[in-house]
Amino acid sequence: MDTLQPSQRTATASTQISLWRGEIMAALARVLDYCPRPQVPHHGRVAVLSAKMASNLRCVDRLDAFYAALIHDIGLLDNTCDPDRYWSPEEQANLPAVRMHPLIGAQLAAEAPGLFSVAPLIMDHHECYDGHGYPRGKGGDEISVGAQVLRFSATCDGVLREQGSPELLPLLDALRSRAASQVCAEIVNTGIEVLGEPGFYAQLSRAEDVDILCQSITHRLATDDLATTDADVTGLLELFAHVTDAHPADKIGHSRRVAHRSVLVAMAMGLPEDVTMKLKWAALVHDVGLVTVPKAILDKPGPLSHEELIQVHTHAVATERFIAPIRGLEEVAAIAAAHGEAFDGSGYPHGLAGNEIPLGARILAVCDTFDALTSHRPYRAARDSSLAIDILIKGSGSLFDPDVVTAAVPVFLITRASDEPAMHALN
Ligand SMILES: [Fe+2]
Ligand SMILES: [Fe+2]
Repeated sequence: MDTLQPSQRTATASTQISLWRGEIMAALARVLDYCPRPQVPHHGRVAVLSAKMASNLRCVDRLDAFYAALIHDIGLLDNTCDPDRYWSPEEQANLPAVRMHPLIGAQLAAEAPGLFSVAPLIMDHHECYDGHGYPRGKGGDEISVGAQVLRFSATCDGVLREQGSPELLPLLDALRSRAASQVCAEIVNTGIEVLGEPGFYAQLSRAEDVDILCQSITHRLATDDLATTDADVTGLLELFAHVTDAHPADKIGHSRRVAHRSVLVAMAMGLPEDVTMKLKWAALVHDVGLVTVPKAILDKPGPLSHEELIQVHTHAVATERFIAPIRGLEEVAAIAAAHGEAFDGSGYPHGLAGNEIPLGARILAVCDTFDALTSHRPYRAARDSSLAIDILIKGSGSLFDPDVVTAAVPVFLITRASDEPAMHALN
């Protein structure tokens, strides 16, 4: 029997990839900023203001404040609050999904690699200095300075959006009165001071500049904060899968199941470990572009029209737009973007055929389709595994790469359809 030396094992066990955590977080913020509606850079703007306030206050870790702000509402994927009017803390706390979101967000951060210290800020970002916040009704100095910075910055963005104009003086007046009950006087004063710095607010209020500001903060604060192991990268990309898989109900767990099955199929095909790992990452993020597709289409309780289908197909390009800016994940973004291509060239977005389609994307297409077929839809019941496999075999050579289908069938036969516990066991 061959024995593997430790050095060989290290060489084959890793993609050797090293990614900037800040770039992954900024990409995630751009995804979150599409929920509930596009082009409102809420997370980005809150992150820029929080980082700047933290640097003035000196007693708050700037990177923690920046990261916490970039994803602070990740636990809120079912928001029914109209963002154009002020919702008091009491009103917010009466909506279960809203009341829970700081806890869900904190849990996700605590479990993500390198973000444990960010979790307490997210947990307390709706607590108020006067004790009327949520989820726990903390008050005064029980609330950390970092969480108060986050609260002030999020309130600032709320006021800016409600105001509908970028004028500074009315914004400062509204902020002074609203933030007084939410955070301590020192935080209000620091925030007002920062917003008054020459040129800063003008840039912060322009949606198109927020991303540039985020990038420059990432470059300044986070150059040596790297995700250097495959497990780190996987853990961070699972946050994207969390966003995609949370809605609608029939998609829960989809990206993770596709990732698990893609790994098994790649193994069955004898692909190297680094190639398999990149495929797993592509599977975790492949549907993230769906946040750009109107909810009314995603939630439609019936088959989609031709026009609606074309809109859904744009999600592949949107996925690439979100992921490709993360340096080191360009190949992963390309694999994810091609998961709708068909072997005969009839797919989307570019009509690639055969070997023009990255092998990872050809595997992803088969695993994605299997999961879609075996999942419930509002307009049809879930198919059982054997019927789904028959459909894949019928599409072999036209829609799907025949080599991939041949490798996938035995894998799908032994993994029960949509069986979450069984899939988790493979983690
Ligand atoms: Fe929030
Ligand atoms: Fe999918």
